[in-house]
Amino acid sequence: MKIGIDKIGFYVPHLYVDMNKLAKARNVDPEKYTIGIGQEKMAIAPITQDSVTLAANAALDILDDADKENIDFVIFGTETGVDNSKAAGIYVHHLLGLKPNVRTIEVKQACYGATAGIQMAKGHVALNPDSKVLVLASDIARYGLRTGGEATQGAGAVALVISRDPRIMELEDKSAFMTGEVMDFWRPVYSEYALVNGKLSNEKYLSFFEEIWQTFKTSTGLSIKDFTAICYHLPYTKMGLKALRTIYDEGTEADKERLLENLEYSKMYNKNVGNIYTGSLYLSLISLLEHQKDLEEGARIGLFSYGSGAVGEFFTGILQPNYQAHLNQKQHEEMLASRIEVTVAEYEKIFEMILPKDGSTVQLDTEADPAKIKLAGVSEHIRQYINNNRHKE
Ligand code: COA
Repeated sequence: MKIGIDKIGFYVPHLYVDMNKLAKARNVDPEKYTIGIGQEKMAIAPITQDSVTLAANAALDILDDADKENIDFVIFGTETGVDNSKAAGIYVHHLLGLKPNVRTIEVKQACYGATAGIQMAKGHVALNPDSKVLVLASDIARYGLRTGGEATQGAGAVALVISRDPRIMELEDKSAFMTGEVMDFWRPVYSEYALVNGKLSNEKYLSFFEEIWQTFKTSTGLSIKDFTAICYHLPYTKMGLKALRTIYDEGTEADKERLLENLEYSKMYNKNVGNIYTGSLYLSLISLLEHQKDLEEGARIGLFSYGSGAVGEFFTGILQPNYQAHLNQKQHEEMLASRIEVTVAEYEKIFEMILPKDGSTVQLDTEADPAKIKLAGVSEHIRQYINNNRHKE
């Protein structure tokens, strides 16, 4: 039975800051951000968007009634959860009006969470062939103003439907993965911001990739020539190039050229959004599929997932006939084009707005946020979500 990605879409908040302008404000050569790191725009989440609303908005755009009827498992990957106990996916389940007989959980392992969710979803569909699983990957990357990681922040969510007979990409069974104890990036429960050793995270990302790639090749007999493209977790888009460089000489000149060309397509959305942590790999996959028009049915795409701490996995997918008909490029491009640029001063102000931590009631001004689903406030320790401004959830 073929199992894989039947639908995929993303949502980003309506605000962004220009990386050239951020660089100037930080007295940094803009080319460090645009070339050295490879980012052009950074998505900014207003206070009316959290990981729940970003995910719900992403899912809203891809689900139809048949999906809603068959989804019986919601897996929410995030490292920006809104509650230490309740799964963020339950809010999304409610906001989307899914049926009650659904399992819902939250999965956390830094930027690897959604990959764990996808593998779990595959197992679920293998046992329950009529089921569909909604996997959500939603995060807001916050390192802090004027920090080393500031240029690699971002916000957004990817939603995927995993099912049998997938219309976009079959996920192959063999994958290679590893875990190692690494303090490259973490966020203590008391901290608003991630703590990061940037150089170590780059090094570990690459050493995990190299080791997992070797294991994958040995266990599958596949090699670089078997891949039309490889998508990477992209905390910033230069990272994909760093990883690809470690292996691109294993094949012919044509293999190298093909993989480099397709890497460019796989970065297009990410360089205009920034790091969305667990959704970044899947945003990159959408970027490749929606921009590279020459990918043919049967093409094999490699996917490298890395979550600091650290867990990495390399797995593969095969493009299905007529997969292009099930993508939403027009809508995604329109969403990105309709975003509003904020100045660096405005970004800093938005960044510093946080919800009260003492349980006091707050009602947010939701007017400026064009999203269909938004956070309207907090009352009696309960987040108040609205859907289409019609009713309180
Ligand atoms: N023009 C062009 N490139 C420039 C430049 C300029 N004027 N100035 C610097 N660069 C290049 C550097 O050569 C470097 O390229 P390289 O990595 O290919 O060698 C790149 O820009 C970054 O410069 P660096 O001095 O290493 O930046 P930094 O000390 O500010 O750290 C990160 C960059 C990504 C490590 C930092 O932003 C960070 O910690 N981010 C969060 C963690 C993260 O994303 N980790 C990734 C793995 S999960």
